[in-house]
Amino acid sequence: MTPPIDFTGRRALVTGGASGIGEVTGKLLADLGARVMLADLNAEALPAACARTGAQGFTVGDVAVEEAAERIVADAVAALGGIDLVFNSAGIGDDLVPLHEQPVERWRRVFDVSLWGTLLISRAAGKLMIDQRSGAIVNVSSIVGLDAFPGRSAYGAAKAGIAHLTKTLACEWGEHGIRVNAIAPAYTKTPMVKDLVDRKVFDPTVIERRTPLGRMAETEEMARAVAFLLSDWASYITGVVLPVDGGWSSYGAAGDVVKIRHK
Ligand SMILES: NC(=O)c1ccc[n+]([C@@H]2O[C@H](COP(=O)([O-])OP(=O)(O)OC[C@H]3O[C@@H](n4cnc5c(N)ncnc54)[C@H](O)[C@@H]3O)[C@@H](O)[C@H]2O)c1
Repeated sequence: MTPPIDFTGRRALVTGGASGIGEVTGKLLADLGARVMLADLNAEALPAACARTGAQGFTVGDVAVEEAAERIVADAVAALGGIDLVFNSAGIGDDLVPLHEQPVERWRRVFDVSLWGTLLISRAAGKLMIDQRSGAIVNVSSIVGLDAFPGRSAYGAAKAGIAHLTKTLACEWGEHGIRVNAIAPAYTKTPMVKDLVDRKVFDPTVIERRTPLGRMAETEEMARAVAFLLSDWASYITGVVLPVDGGWSSYGAAGDVVKIRHK
């Protein structure tokens, strides 16, 4: 019988830890026994998130900047004595603007925070994990990285890049005892999505209709998938991009055009 997930003695770095999926996952990892370091660009939000999650500490920095990403990892090592688990959750949303109307700098920022940030944190933490010959990393792709969403070229390209980076790192680092996986969430009720709904970037009822399970995801449903992939329960799983999407990516019918006829 496999014992329940227990992260006692594990040291976890969570980026984007001041809000949403990062914060809730940080709390779940701490609840399951891990010592957790939260990293985020939002210095104001971090102390309260740290208190809510039970994290050991926090560090402020921009994951998309190489020196800052390396310092974030160094801060986590200084606070925790090492890093066994990384959850790369830092990311920013986009504006549903077609490429030709989008300022290049905005495109680049959305892309850089997600893809470049994930790459830089993974690179810095991966070097340590290679030396200790163990570790687990979970990245955040998206349903937007699996198929095309018009107006979301930066976000989609970044999330598709994260899916590919996840597979490549899994193959490069498997021999060092390091597992690298990703979740691909659908719409999840976090501050990022609330902001998009408030700005009327999308209508939640359309999302609910398009989703086989008929609702958006709770943030805890992402956290549980991440905890599983980071845990020893997933000891033979690496290089996987796991849709956590209520069936979104399996759905191929033509929206409301096709109706099932119940007898
Ligand atoms: N919410 C969704 O529906 C959804 C769906 C698919 C994927 N995602 C992805 O999940 C991850 C978390 O999103 P969320 O919904 O929890 O958003 P969120 O806005 O609640 O949290 C994101 C956190 O990342 C931080 N952050 C932003 N830029 C940063 C940077 N350069 N350096 C460090 N920290 C930075 C923010 O300050 C914030 O605290 C993101 O990668 C997002 O793209 C979210």
